[in-house]
Amino acid sequence: MTIEHAQLDWNADGQPTSHQFGDIYFSRESGLEETRYVFLQQNHLRERWQQLKDNHHFVIGETGFGSGLNFIAACELWLATAPETAQLHFVSVEKFPLSKTDLIRVLALWPALNAISLELITHYPCFVGNGFHRLNFFNGRIKLTLIINDAAIGLTQLLASQNPEFAGYCAKIDAWFFDGFSPSKNPEMWSYALFSAIEKLSREGTTAATFSAAVPVKKGLIGCGFSIEKIAGFGRKRDMIKAVLLEKKITVSADIQSHRSYSAYPIPWTIDAESIQSKREKCVAIIGGGIAGCTSARALAERGWHVTIIEKHNALAQEGSGNPQGALYAKLSPENEPQAEFNLCCLQFAFHFYRHLWNDIGGKTGVLQLAYNQKEIILQKNLLEKFLSIPDLVKFVSAEEASQLAGIFLSHSGIFFPEAGWINPKKLCHYLVGHKNIEIITGIEVKKLEKINDGWILNNNHSLSFPYVIIANAGSAAEFPVTKHLPIKTIRGQVSYLPVTEKSRAIKTVICSEGYLAPAENQQHCVGATFNLGETSLELREEDHQKNINTLYEQIPSLASVWQSQQQLSGHVAFRCTLPDYLPMIGPVADAELMQKHFSALRKNARANIEKTGNYLAGLYINIGHGSRGLTYAPLCAELLAAQMNHDPLPMPRELSNVLNPARFLIRDLIKNKI
Ligand SMILES: Cc1cc2nc3c(=O)[nH]c(=O)nc-3n(C[C@H](O)[C@H](O)[C@H](O)COP(=O)(O)OP(=O)(O)OC[C@H]3O[C@@H](n4cnc5c(N)ncnc54)[C@H](O)[C@@H]3O)c2cc1C
Ligand SMILES: C[S@@+](CC[C@H](N)C(=O)[O-])C[C@H]1O[C@@H](n2cnc3c(N)ncnc32)[C@H](O)[C@@H]1O
Repeated sequence: MTIEHAQLDWNADGQPTSHQFGDIYFSRESGLEETRYVFLQQNHLRERWQQLKDNHHFVIGETGFGSGLNFIAACELWLATAPETAQLHFVSVEKFPLSKTDLIRVLALWPALNAISLELITHYPCFVGNGFHRLNFFNGRIKLTLIINDAAIGLTQLLASQNPEFAGYCAKIDAWFFDGFSPSKNPEMWSYALFSAIEKLSREGTTAATFSAAVPVKKGLIGCGFSIEKIAGFGRKRDMIKAVLLEKKITVSADIQSHRSYSAYPIPWTIDAESIQSKREKCVAIIGGGIAGCTSARALAERGWHVTIIEKHNALAQEGSGNPQGALYAKLSPENEPQAEFNLCCLQFAFHFYRHLWNDIGGKTGVLQLAYNQKEIILQKNLLEKFLSIPDLVKFVSAEEASQLAGIFLSHSGIFFPEAGWINPKKLCHYLVGHKNIEIITGIEVKKLEKINDGWILNNNHSLSFPYVIIANAGSAAEFPVTKHLPIKTIRGQVSYLPVTEKSRAIKTVICSEGYLAPAENQQHCVGATFNLGETSLELREEDHQKNINTLYEQIPSLASVWQSQQQLSGHVAFRCTLPDYLPMIGPVADAELMQKHFSALRKNARANIEKTGNYLAGLYINIGHGSRGLTYAPLCAELLAAQMNHDPLPMPRELSNVLNPARFLIRDLIKNKI
């Protein structure tokens, strides 16, 4: 799944041409003026954005991200014309991304756009393979979703289902920028499959513009139902096409054979069809003030939602998120399965998310993952093929290099994440809730959660009724009747606070093996953590301190005997919340009874042809199950949940978001005939 970067040739004026396609990226006369004329002006963006209402969002879809010039020009116009509370989603698909070096060189052609270009350059991701990259700019006012893939395949991942009948239950594009190379040089870019996805992603009123007036482009757009107009092109180009979708035709695909007893497509149980029509006020209560609750609050507040966090303790982040130091890390995998894709997607988003926050919430000291046993040595060897060429993301280091990075002698080789570090989750939570749309109520435990006509009431208290509720209280979610069917497990964990010593003061990076050790903060190191499934005690235990210390000594012998548990150590005990597949649970809460009834045919036939969307409890969502990786998972999961609730483009491929769906165990159990 390795990707191919763009290969550029440069002319004497410093303008790029694609070596692969022998075509230009933009007009030689003025790329920027061409973008403004072809894409911004012909989609009437200035007028549309000036009329946009507060808190609304607008979605641009682009084929061919290239140098990002169109994106940057759109950002410039958005910042000048749209209300400050509105959000621009720019979704762009690119098969041959520029290297960062080339990106910098191209964007230097427009010094007037420097401020925005620099943002893109700073956050431009590393590309491991095909996939989604969500980048938020200007306090969430602009959200870029860069999809690395062939255009048709990439856009298909924005659809709600592979089943053509249900594909359109997804966020729609308001304006298209069709900017592939010209159809004569790049015919596969303008395929039937591409236009088929475009049709499903468009709504009545969607506009489109393209520099090309070639026949396949015109035919494709007309086939999608667009009314097209040929107008004068930019510069030396004779003409171009602008288009609008005036009327959306409902087409029933010929390949649907509903009389079959098995489905040709995955059953669309993941779709929450009712929520798409919802006209409820954007007002939400979040139960739980840990990192899941606080990241969700921030993601929704930036989308104009009014958020109330309700936390049972007298302060935020007292339980799982109550450690003074946590490591930002994730297990990389040589495989291309969902767990691996999810970990990588979260890790890359987390690097972007925390990039500006390190000074406020912890330290970007890098994270070293030691190859401390045979299993880990083999794993890291197997990672080489996929990750060796991406040192900005992860570096493979010898024991000697690891020792230099860590500041102490280490006898194991390892992998090093230069963009990672340690985080104080409490500080993070406090930072995140610092937004005018977020209110916090502490000292109230939600014991009752009941459905009312147009929302949910908490503790039978009418002043605590909300159109929407998010359950973000980790393992305690099992206590609500509406979520008691979920297979939640809790795992006790204890971290130990070790006083800084002369030797340990030298530690410069987070060192992870079986456990983890962070560089000293406030004269102590946070070291962890123990794992005890099913235990419920909140007491700090000396034997657990000793276990943490022993694990540390085993993997970092140069620290041996620096600390002893008899020193009356302090620490923190809390419970991780996990699910049987070790993935979080993000999305709408299933109406378990109704869903069992509607999908009962799965008991006999796993591929039963059930042409029904899922049954979800209107307005009720969940964000739990972050296990030992909350710092890595929570930012992207919050972004996903907010996108689902706000009906804007998802930050990850639809199939990956389906893997996190709260009804997944219910469906699996039906298939296994276990319920
Ligand atoms: C010892 C230990 C070490 C860890 N180390 C790391 C690490 O290094 N890196 C990492 O990424 N992750 C680590 N984790 C995991 C990480 O801490 C969790 O994944 C994360 O804190 C989960 O956040 P959360 O918001 O889902 O849950 P929590 O932080 O537990 O938040 C849930 C909140 O809900 C509140 N609540 C519960 N019930 C109710 C109710 N009925 N009404 C109102 N409020 C309620 C609770 O008081 C709590 O504040 C560690 C976990 C433990 C236990
Ligand atoms: C004209 S350039 C785009 C210029 C770009 N919009 C900009 O602002 O710089 C065309 C882009 O389409 C990309 N491309 C070509 N074939 C593709 C395909 N099959 N799928 C996705 N992208 C493709 C190219 O790599 C190139 O970046």
